[in-house]
Amino acid sequence: MNDKLLKAREYECKKEKTIGEELRPLFHLTPRCGWMNDPNGFSIYKGKYHLFYQYYPYGTAWGPMHWGHVESDDLITWKYLPVIMAPETEYDKNGCFSGSAIETEDGKHLILYTGVLQKQDENGDFYDVQTQCVAVGDGVDYEKYELNPVITGDDLPEGAGKRDFRDPKIWRENGKYYLVVGNKTVDGDGQLLQYSSEDGYNWKYEKVLIKNNNRFGVMWECPDYFALDGKQVLLTSPQDMLPEELEFHNGNGTLCVIGSVNSDGDFCEENCQAVDYGIDFYAPQTILTKDGRRVMIGWLQNWDTVGIRRDDFPWFGQMSFPREISVRNGKLIQKPIHEIENYYGKRVSRQNVLISDNCALSSIEGRCIDMTVNVRSTGSELSYKKFEIRFADNGKAYSTIEFDPTESIVKIDRKHSGSRRAIVHQRRCKVANRKGEITLRLILDRYSMELFINDGEQVMSMGIFTDIKAEGISFKANGELIMDIVMNELEKK
Ligand code: FRU
Repeated sequence: MNDKLLKAREYECKKEKTIGEELRPLFHLTPRCGWMNDPNGFSIYKGKYHLFYQYYPYGTAWGPMHWGHVESDDLITWKYLPVIMAPETEYDKNGCFSGSAIETEDGKHLILYTGVLQKQDENGDFYDVQTQCVAVGDGVDYEKYELNPVITGDDLPEGAGKRDFRDPKIWRENGKYYLVVGNKTVDGDGQLLQYSSEDGYNWKYEKVLIKNNNRFGVMWECPDYFALDGKQVLLTSPQDMLPEELEFHNGNGTLCVIGSVNSDGDFCEENCQAVDYGIDFYAPQTILTKDGRRVMIGWLQNWDTVGIRRDDFPWFGQMSFPREISVRNGKLIQKPIHEIENYYGKRVSRQNVLISDNCALSSIEGRCIDMTVNVRSTGSELSYKKFEIRFADNGKAYSTIEFDPTESIVKIDRKHSGSRRAIVHQRRCKVANRKGEITLRLILDRYSMELFINDGEQVMSMGIFTDIKAEGISFKANGELIMDIVMNELEKK
């Protein structure tokens, strides 16, 4: 094992012991120590779920990327395993960037990742050379392949740029391996390229899978591509987006393209939408579980909002709660995986509560809860103008979810959550107009809120860093409405 990896392994072991459980979210994965970004190598290996992550163990800011590692039996309780890769070879000495993993027929865990090497041009300016590399392992220890890199700038089609070429996602189909990888063209547009391989080591360029054509941002990062519910789904995370109504926001975003594959095997687009309409979600990856569910995990963070942080925390970055995804009426549907029910503690439920003005309900409070609220008008006419849920409230700091039934807009807001930075704190999302009826399901963990709207038609996520003793929840109506509520406390068993 090389020195850099050994050093990282020793460091994280020691550092982890200094981080009390109470400093972490209850269910959302955080790095063993230091910094975490994208989920990587999300896969099933020898019957267990494995997840890797972009990792800089030595500090809570982004640094030379390592690959952190966890495993799980149920996707919710994760066990830290030793870091598997450090940036130390000639082709990845400036970073082991994002990638994916698969179990091979002969029982190996095969990883495809991006190696980053920084070079200097004639003006002395630095630029990246990004290539695709292989590492193989047994679920704990991994070796970089001696013939790395396996896909280089020489394997690019005409017009493709060599500097932004990253984040391979591998899959197996009809006895062959395939991968899709992000690329920025020399004229500065995003595209995804497809390669194929008989053995996972020797790769052949196949085609441009999809072109951005200057629609959604510039470079497309972290693609994923799979069949789902009779459709073909493509996920990617574009950088430098321009806003489009309430569908896409500025900056780094997420994009889901739903389409089909024609008789030539080409992807035909049918619908483009955001994956998450909140503030903090990026670079999701999916797996197919043994019982046939497509489950997605994303980085519960956005590059544009990394300024909201707790400087007293020994970690930075958390993963989203795992979401089961499906396609309904040509649109993406997301739900928290049902395994969450195994973590339910006390349950409180109320039906047909009349809400007018401000109210708190006894026993409805907490910072680790799965709470579903259904609200509707009192009669056939719209009987309210606004509905608000206030949570993580201690009388001083709080966050809110607001629903405007006339405009059909849901807004999440963390402006008063204790943040001292002038950064994005609010986001709005257009939802289906059901004449004042809406269902809002909140997964609240200590440092995040994920809102599943109307049975998963839309999701809005955000990090909040309010003191965890802020547990208050209250409701407010401008007008009157009827509310049903079911709240399950979440607890580690
Ligand atoms: C996305 C990303 C990837 C890259 C990684 C580097 O968040 O920029 O494209 O591989 O992060 O940490």
